[in-house]
Amino acid sequence: MNSLTTNPVADVLARLYRESEAADRPLFEQFIKESDDFDIGQFLKDEAKDYKAVYKGYANNFLNVSQEFGQFLYTCIRNTKAKRVVEFGSSMGISTIHMAAALRDNGGGKIIGTELEESKAKRARKNIAAAGLSEIVEIRVGDALETLKDVEGPIDVLMLDGAFTLYLRVLKLLEPNFRNGTLIIGENAIKESSDYLDYVRNPKNGYLSLPLPFDEGRGNELTLFTL
Ligand SMILES: C[S@@+](CC[C@H](N)C(=O)[O-])C[C@H]1O[C@@H](n2cnc3c(N)ncnc32)[C@H](O)[C@@H]1O
Repeated sequence: MNSLTTNPVADVLARLYRESEAADRPLFEQFIKESDDFDIGQFLKDEAKDYKAVYKGYANNFLNVSQEFGQFLYTCIRNTKAKRVVEFGSSMGISTIHMAAALRDNGGGKIIGTELEESKAKRARKNIAAAGLSEIVEIRVGDALETLKDVEGPIDVLMLDGAFTLYLRVLKLLEPNFRNGTLIIGENAIKESSDYLDYVRNPKNGYLSLPLPFDEGRGNELTLFTL
């Protein structure tokens, strides 16, 4: 069984990738145009100062995972027979749909997703419903540092894809819910925001962590909790 490549999931994802291409193209064109001058350090400073304001500015952008990354998420969840997933940063639901499809193909489960922007959470819920996956997903609206304080049980897979500078704080918030073998998948776990990578790449902290060889430069990192 593979509901990623069958309908309704396949059709909904194809539509969402078309919509994200249209919505985010101007933003990426601007990034490319300004890439010589783009100061990631300044972006991280702005985020650290006021991440809510930074992401309000992207309220109409998808900022979604690539199709390859989405297939990777699906594969991880199928292969680990995961039942409980937490996602930091759900946006319009593209990554969530990949993971929810995998949970359903595993026989069922639950994703707790989080999104700062209410309008994005509404769109995510609508997209997830169109993919027929509503019963698997709960999207919590607000700051993940608050909304993930109680995740009601152990976590099999954690997907980190929100404000870059919060990865370590979100990880530590959820650490008590990890089990031996929990997978943490980070998108944008970039070296410039190094506290997270320093922590998970240090085996003394109980992790084994390595960069993923696709979407180079986007800071994709796969981490195993080993305690
Ligand atoms: C890169 S996008 C997520 C893309 C999504 N995972 C996908 O592949 O479709 C990051 C999202 O995280 C949200 N976000 C940022 N900081 C957050 C926080 N502290 N709590 C909850 N959501 C947050 C942003 O509003 C934004 O929609």
